Amino acid sequence: MTMANITINGQKISAKAGITVLQAAREAGIDIPTLCDHPALSPVGACRMCIVEIKGQRALQTSCTFPVIEGMEIQTDSKMVTDARKLVLDMIFSERNHFCPYCEMSGSCELQDLGYRYHVDHWVFSTYTKAFPLDATHKYYLMEHNRCVLCGRCIRACDELVANHTLGLGQRGSESMVRADANIPLGESSCISCGTCTQVCPTGALFYKRSAFMGKDSLTQKVKSTCNQCGVGCGTEVVTRGGNVLSILGDWDAPVNKGLLCKMGRFEPLYDSRKRLTTPLLRTKGKLKEISWEEAIQTLAKQINTVKASEIGVLSGSYSSNEALYLIKKLFNEKLQVSNIGLTNTVAPRIFDKVQSKLEDIAQSDIILVAGSDPLNDQPVASFIIKRAVDKGARLIVVDDKKNGLAPFAFMNVDMADISKAVEVAKRANNPFILYGAGITKTAIAELKKLKDKANYIIVESGVNTVAAAALGLNNGYNPSGLKLLYVLMGEQNYEGADLLKGIPKNAFIVAQASYLSPLTERAELVLPAAIWSEQNSSLTNIEGRIQNINKAVEPAGDAKPDWEALQLLSAELGKNIAVSIDKVSAEVMKSLK
Ligand code: SF4
Ligand code: SF4
Ligand code: SF4
Ligand code: FES
Repeated sequence: MTMANITINGQKISAKAGITVLQAAREAGIDIPTLCDHPALSPVGACRMCIVEIKGQRALQTSCTFPVIEGMEIQTDSKMVTDARKLVLDMIFSERNHFCPYCEMSGSCELQDLGYRYHVDHWVFSTYTKAFPLDATHKYYLMEHNRCVLCGRCIRACDELVANHTLGLGQRGSESMVRADANIPLGESSCISCGTCTQVCPTGALFYKRSAFMGKDSLTQKVKSTCNQCGVGCGTEVVTRGGNVLSILGDWDAPVNKGLLCKMGRFEPLYDSRKRLTTPLLRTKGKLKEISWEEAIQTLAKQINTVKASEIGVLSGSYSSNEALYLIKKLFNEKLQVSNIGLTNTVAPRIFDKVQSKLEDIAQSDIILVAGSDPLNDQPVASFIIKRAVDKGARLIVVDDKKNGLAPFAFMNVDMADISKAVEVAKRANNPFILYGAGITKTAIAELKKLKDKANYIIVESGVNTVAAAALGLNNGYNPSGLKLLYVLMGEQNYEGADLLKGIPKNAFIVAQASYLSPLTERAELVLPAAIWSEQNSSLTNIEGRIQNINKAVEPAGDAKPDWEALQLLSAELGKNIAVSIDKVSAEVMKSLK
């Protein structure tokens, strides 16, 4: 890589040629204020906060767009620069309504921080009194146009990161406004509620309704964790105050999603209205009655000891953590010799012998073939990555017999029976990428194998922790007939009653370890309350095979316990002490993924 020798504020620096002056300054630990710039977005040079003096240039230059050139001499804090920045701020504060005390973002606003830094303590210019509208039509966030500084971060986030292209700039000059689609209310627009625009907004123009007016940044705590709503496993920051979860943000440092989240990960867990289970319950005289954990575990151990291994069945829901699945395997399968163990969702077949690729590798492909899975609806952040690649010129082929969310973005849509046509096109590509799920047929498997020497691939498993469950061999077929005891590790999974209870003998003793009340817990003899995503330390394996931590952000509701903790208590009661640690689980999962 060519390096350039430059000087910033008299300090000699060696910087990669071609990066911007702003990047070079940041790498050298020199702070330059910014407003429209965001590390995840392309620079546009719109706000002029980052201006610097460059020797030989007639005017001040925006450091976020100016490239590093050998020998350049830069001043980031000269009087000329700071006076010009103050002027920019005076103008921004004079436009629209920036009465900070009435703004939800006061105390957590980048514009306000700049105001303090450059001593903006009064209006230099007469204020602009036109009132702009407030758009409160979106379910999850609010657009207050009066606080907008037209930095365009939201527009670039929707275009460049989410590839949804909902936002744009409408009108001209002082009338300019961020608008959705053809200037329609956000709640009626093509917005898919990923919330990324709101996360990147530097002011109080876009903010989340659920956490509005609940406290500025300095009053909240942030815990890095992993989203458990699908198999992508996006990195999150869980924002809490006083033991309550206020919001979920995308973690910009997370390797899988690099800051992005979808509606399921960012918003839906905060709006969950299902009824929580908070105490162990035992059916007594036909009714579920509260009992202690001690009684619950003793009752369960006694039941297990009264039946044969062949009369026990175990079903795992897709939210179960690596640790819980590991304990299911060790306790039920290895120690108690139970073989009737299954999953509530279907596992896709492994059809290639090579190691899976990463989602970020999709960016390098020229043909993307999606077969038997619907990432747009089931693994949304993966679909953002696919749509981004399509925006940059990759061609998408969708093979599905069902309605597929990615179909409108594909240049070719075929039924599963015609997959050979898709494979023929993919063969001609330089760098094809296959994403397939449990919906592929035997014919499709044979066809996809023809691309084995050429294509990169990812198995887009349904559910959440399906990769780990399959790796631990917990999908070897479950049969409800003849069961005397069924242990269901339901966790947070949404339960549709009929299918799961089908075929289970009427007198079977059902144990439901679950977070929410459902027809399953209503039918169970024993209910063990399970901690949810924000209430436990555990880990998940994502569709790429990455093992990622879930970190506890708040205390469990009532007496709920993480699944792995309840399983450890049960192991101890049965005299089969089993130690579980992230290292042990990782080693076991990784062994079978290779
Ligand atoms: S929430 Fe997502 S899809 Fe909707 S406008 Fe914002 S960035 Fe675009
Ligand atoms: S809404 Fe926020 S991010 Fe979008 S242009 Fe306005 S200030 Fe910038
Ligand atoms: S794509 Fe999946 S893991 Fe990522 S935020 Fe959405 S639901 Fe969560
Ligand atoms: S941050 Fe450089 S112009 Fe806005």
